[in-house]
Amino acid sequence: MNDQRHDTTDMPTSIGAPQVPLHRRGIKSYVLRAGRMTAAQTRGLEEVWPRLGLTLDDGRQDLDAVFGRQAPRVVEVGFGMGASLIEQAERHPETDFIGIEVHAPGVGKLLDEADKRGLSNLRVYREDALRVLDECLPEASIDTLQLFFPDPWPKKKHHKRRILQPAFVELVRTRLKHGGTLHMATDWENYAEHMAEVMSAAPGFRNVASADTAPYVPRPEFRPLTKFEARGERLGHGVWDLIFERCV
Ligand SMILES: C[S@@+](CC[C@H](N)C(=O)[O-])C[C@H]1O[C@@H](n2cnc3c(N)ncnc32)[C@H](O)[C@@H]1O
Repeated sequence: MNDQRHDTTDMPTSIGAPQVPLHRRGIKSYVLRAGRMTAAQTRGLEEVWPRLGLTLDDGRQDLDAVFGRQAPRVVEVGFGMGASLIEQAERHPETDFIGIEVHAPGVGKLLDEADKRGLSNLRVYREDALRVLDECLPEASIDTLQLFFPDPWPKKKHHKRRILQPAFVELVRTRLKHGGTLHMATDWENYAEHMAEVMSAAPGFRNVASADTAPYVPRPEFRPLTKFEARGERLGHGVWDLIFERCV
């Protein structure tokens, strides 16, 4: 076991005010719901996991060794049932994808689908994404981090549970390569405004939006439609995409 959890020798050099990420403050950005597993999801977790699953106990990863090649790398945080991730991994065999999700049925579903479609460019963590970023992903190792429709925590007293916060953003910055991007999407206007505010104040990031649409970018065609987005559309919600590039 390669446990570097408490090894601070290679902690990221942070810029700006020091921030403590949610997980180190004992706050969770999710609620684990007891959900019934389908046979396919159980098969994914039991039979496919040994091949495509990664754990915190694996410690800091050498991603070239994990995938057996050098390739562009995309990480999706909170992939839900995995629709977007599966579609992208299938469409882009030249890119490696890492999904991180705590919800067991979603992880099982993703694994089952990945196996059925014969995908070898996908790996999965069933863990708190903050710990995975902190403890497992090397610095400057990711080309894109995707955060699609994160839990909005709409009540003001719950805003502290929103995953998109200065400390998370700083952690993401250190894991992105220079020129790598953080791509967010939400159907909650208040969360979109919160994202824009946090990202605009975040050191080391540049908004890629052009002046006529800033702080948002038009919905990129490459982002697959997910269940949450489709639901938002049905409810008449808007959808806001934000893309920021690591520049320091
Ligand atoms: C509102 S859902 C959106 C799912 C998916 N991205 C979509 O668009 O359909 C948010 C997901 O993020 C997951 N999540 C929230 N915080 C997380 C964390 N810290 N680590 C891993 N997953 C997390 C939740 O379990 C949930 O499945």
